[in-house]
Amino acid sequence: MNIFLCGFMGCGKTTIGKLISEKFKYKFIDLDEFISDETGLSVAEIFDKYSEEYFRNSETDALKKLSLTDNTVISLGGGAILNPVNADIIKNSGTVIFIDIDEKVAFKRLKNDTSRPLLNTPDKFDKIKELLKERRPIYRKYSDITVNGDEKPEIIAEYIKKVLKI
Ligand code: S3P
Repeated sequence: MNIFLCGFMGCGKTTIGKLISEKFKYKFIDLDEFISDETGLSVAEIFDKYSEEYFRNSETDALKKLSLTDNTVISLGGGAILNPVNADIIKNSGTVIFIDIDEKVAFKRLKNDTSRPLLNTPDKFDKIKELLKERRPIYRKYSDITVNGDEKPEIIAEYIKKVLKI
């Protein structure tokens, strides 16, 4: 089985994913990085040169490939699990952990970030609030475990280890 980390941009999926992959001696894959490696373009460049739709299709293609792996920790982009087709692939291939943060924490972490095309708006805080409100129920719906993303990554990783008993 694999372990998937989902949650909003800036919740710590990549940092925590790397930590738990070391603890479990699992491989680690970041879905955005996997797509960037395959296309030779950053996520922002894919949005810019092609479209969000193109990027979303790439997420599905990448997940189909990654679902064939085993003993791998996969950190998902914040929008990946929202598509029910992707959610199906993910749920059939591993355990899903939702790293939850609130809008203030997300804003604090992302206010100077320019790599997330969805947040390149003048009203970044409002956009984060709106997206989180829309997405949190979906993250919850597909997750087996929810963790508090405001904690330190090391504490979250230890907690996940305890709960999953790996
Ligand atoms: C997105 C999150 C990003 C990336 C893309 C879209 C989203 O990944 O996939 O910018 O829709 O939430 P991170 O959650 O790793 O920032």
